[in-house]
Amino acid sequence: MELFLVGAGYVGLTTAVGFAQLGHRVTVHDIDAGRIESLKAGRVPIFEPGLEEALRRELAAHRLAFTTDPTPGAAVEMAVVCVPTPIGRDGLLVTSAVEAVVARLVADLGPDRTIVVRSTLPLGGPDRLEAIGAGRAAARPAIVVNPEFMAEGRALADFAAPPRVAIGYLTPADRAGADRLAALYAPLNAPLILADARSVVLWKLASNVFLSLKIAFANELARLADATGADVTVVADGLGLDPRIGRAFLNSGPGFGGSCLPEQAAAIAVEAARCDVEAPLLSVIATANTTHQEQLVSTVERLLPAGLRKAKIAVLGLAFKANTDDVRHSPALIVARGLRARGARVVGYDPVANGTARGADPELETASTAAEAIDGSDAVVVATEWQEFASLDWPALATTMRGDLVYDTRRTLAPDVVRGAGLRYVGLGRAGVPATPR
Ligand code: UDX
Repeated sequence: MELFLVGAGYVGLTTAVGFAQLGHRVTVHDIDAGRIESLKAGRVPIFEPGLEEALRRELAAHRLAFTTDPTPGAAVEMAVVCVPTPIGRDGLLVTSAVEAVVARLVADLGPDRTIVVRSTLPLGGPDRLEAIGAGRAAARPAIVVNPEFMAEGRALADFAAPPRVAIGYLTPADRAGADRLAALYAPLNAPLILADARSVVLWKLASNVFLSLKIAFANELARLADATGADVTVVADGLGLDPRIGRAFLNSGPGFGGSCLPEQAAAIAVEAARCDVEAPLLSVIATANTTHQEQLVSTVERLLPAGLRKAKIAVLGLAFKANTDDVRHSPALIVARGLRARGARVVGYDPVANGTARGADPELETASTAAEAIDGSDAVVVATEWQEFASLDWPALATTMRGDLVYDTRRTLAPDVVRGAGLRYVGLGRAGVPATPR
C-alpha cells in the first residue's frame, strides 16, 4: 500500500520503518527541512537501537522516502499522522498540530482513503477530529485513531510484535477505514481491537497511567522496605508471581520519566476535573512521583555525613531510562537539580545522553566517562540502569573518590563488588540486604 506519514519524530520514524518492513511504500513528510535532508542520507537524529540500520535498508529497497512537500501524492491510500501533542498550560495535550494536519489531509484525500491519527490524543481529541471532518461529512476520507504502545529503546520490536493493536473509528462511517488499517497489521498476528475512538483514546491514556501507577506503587514500597529492613525486589518478585498483578513495571527506581508517563499521569487528573469526575486516585499519581524524587534527594543528603552543601556528587545515567538518549522528564536530571538546589556540585555522565542532557539543563556539568564524573566525588548516584555501570572497576574508582557513598536507585550494581572496594553501597529498597561476609 502507498502510505504518507506526517511527522518524522520518534513515533513517526519507527512507524514508517515498521510499515516499510511489512512491504508498504511509505513517504515521510516533516516541516523540518534539515531533518528530512539527513534522513534522506540515512542519518537518524535520535538514538534508538536498530532504527538507523533498518531505515537505511528500507531506503535502499525504495520502500521509504522523505519529503518536505506536505501534499500526499495521488496514489496515497492512507495517511498516518504522528505529529506531537505537547502538554499545554492547562495540563491537557495540545492538539493544534494534529488538527492542522488532519484538516489538510481531509481536503487532500478522497473518500475511499484513510487518515490514521497515531499521535496521543486528549480525551476530547475525537470530538475535535469529528468537527474537522464534519464539513465534508459524506465525501471525506475515513478518520481513525491508532495509538502507539512502543517503548523507547525497543520501539521497532514493539511495532513488529505488539501484544495488541488498538484501532478506533470516529463514527460508524469510519469503520471501513479501521478495517483497511487492520488489514495492514494482520501479518503481525497480534490481537486487533477495533472500537469507537473515544474508548480507544481513554484506553491509551489509561494504559500509560496504569504503568505510572505500578511504578509509583513500587517506589513507595521501596521506601517502606528501606524503613523496615525489607528487600523490595523480593516484594516485587513475590507480587509478580500473582498473575492478577504481574511483575512488569514493578521495578522501583528514581521515578517514571520520559515523554509519555509523567505528562499523562498529570493529564488524567486534569481530564477528570474537566469532566467533573471525582477521581482521588488518579489525582495523586503524578504527585507521588514528584514526592518520591524529592525523597531520593533527601536520602542522599541524610547519607552524607557533612550533608550536600559543597559535596561533589556523580550522577551516573542522565537519560530517562537505559538504551535511549531521551532526557524528557528524566528522573536523573530532576534528582541532579534537586541535589544542586541543596548546594551540591553535580557532575553527570551518560553513555549516550550527555549532549541531550546539557541541552535540557545548560547548568548541568557532564563528564566524558564515568570515571571522570566519579573522580573526587563524595557520592555516586546511579540514576539510569545502563549495563555499563554494572561492570565498572569499583576498586579502582574507589581510590579516586573523596567520600565512600554509592547510592544505587536502580539496583544495577552488585552490592558485594562495591562493598568489596571499601565503599558504602546503599540500594533503593535494598537497605535490608546484608553484605555477604568476605
Ligand atoms: C511508554 C510506554 O511504555 C509505551 O507503551 C508508550 O507508548 C510510550 O510511553 P516509554 O516512555 O518509552 O514508553 O518508557 P517506559 O519503558 O514505559 O518507561 C517509562 C519510565 O518508567 C522510565 O523512566 C522507566 O525507567 C520507568 N520505569 C519503568 C520504572 O521506574 N520501573 C519499571 O518497572 C518500569
